[in-house]
Amino acid sequence: MNYSECIEQARGKVGSYCKACPECNGKACKNQMPGPGAKGIGDTAIRNYDKWKEIRVQMDTLVENRPIDTSLSLFGKDFKYPFFAGPVGAVNLHYGDSLNDITYNDILVSSCAEFGIAAFTGDGTDSNVMVAATKAIKKAGGFGIPTVKPWNIETIREKMALVKDAGAFAVAMDIDAAGLPFLKNLTPPAGSKSVEELHAIAEAAGVPFIVKGIMTVKGALKAKEAGASAIVVSNHGGRVLDQCPATAEVLEEIALAVDGSIKILVDGGIRSGTDVFKALALGADAAIIARPFVTAVYGGGREGVESYIQKIGGELADTMAMCGVSSLSEITRDCVRI
Ligand SMILES: Cc1cc2nc3c(=O)[nH]c(=O)nc-3n(C[C@H](O)[C@H](O)[C@H](O)COP(=O)(O)O)c2cc1C
Repeated sequence: MNYSECIEQARGKVGSYCKACPECNGKACKNQMPGPGAKGIGDTAIRNYDKWKEIRVQMDTLVENRPIDTSLSLFGKDFKYPFFAGPVGAVNLHYGDSLNDITYNDILVSSCAEFGIAAFTGDGTDSNVMVAATKAIKKAGGFGIPTVKPWNIETIREKMALVKDAGAFAVAMDIDAAGLPFLKNLTPPAGSKSVEELHAIAEAAGVPFIVKGIMTVKGALKAKEAGASAIVVSNHGGRVLDQCPATAEVLEEIALAVDGSIKILVDGGIRSGTDVFKALALGADAAIIARPFVTAVYGGGREGVESYIQKIGGELADTMAMCGVSSLSEITRDCVRI
């Protein structure tokens, strides 16, 4: 199965909001929430996608012909490619009930681990979601990253115990989730955290702690001060605050400010191996792709995930070869122009 066949098969299974478009660019679903769209007028997800396309790659084939090595080491683990599957929670609400968070994460986590990358899992208002996600990660030998919502500290400690039991090699928190319409006025509450509060959470994590949802230099430096091992430059795919800049617009300034002191991941509209290459050239250590993995799982299950990883990985290797680099460390700022 190739990824186009997978998309074909996903139509009819992903519910009425997602159109399983050949290119997942935020246009057809726009501001459809519930659904895979974005908040407000819905153009932040579209902007995320569009801004990667304004960055162009610099071709250079006057180099020695060397084997291409796309492998990444992060937090003591080795990965075949520098991209991860992103966390998507409440899949039955947003994509229809042919799958739920339990069946979705089971397929996603195990297939990603089998084909050389790792998946982030989401968290939800239903506490069973985190229980099932961490079970799936435990089954995959800890090869997955649970993403905990910014609940109150008592709830976070309970979730961190699940993370520990799963043997997950890292844990994330989508610190921007307070903006989600579904998380408003909940008990326990979920919301913004001070640096001190985040520090306590990072300590409770016990494994490398990744803060997801950073869009400014100021935010990146606060996450670092709180003890984060990594940040994800992310606007949650436009789902938490309308009129954010695109992640491609802020990545470079954040990477320059952080200057290698913590790891940087980035998501939002990354849809090809060439986009992954651009993200690394602007200073990211790795990229995250979220929505297209949903289509891959709904359309083709394990085979769908395999075909999508191969597609993105193959495009990355081809771009590297055509831009004259043979390893990730050689992907530098001069490999792209804006
Ligand atoms: C339906 C849906 C549910 C999501 N659920 C979560 C979640 O539970 N936790 C999280 O950190 N991010 C969540 N996200 C955000 C994604 O992980 C990612 O940051 C965003 O979609 C941008 O990446 P993309 O453009 O590749 O989809 C969700 C996104 C969508 C579309």
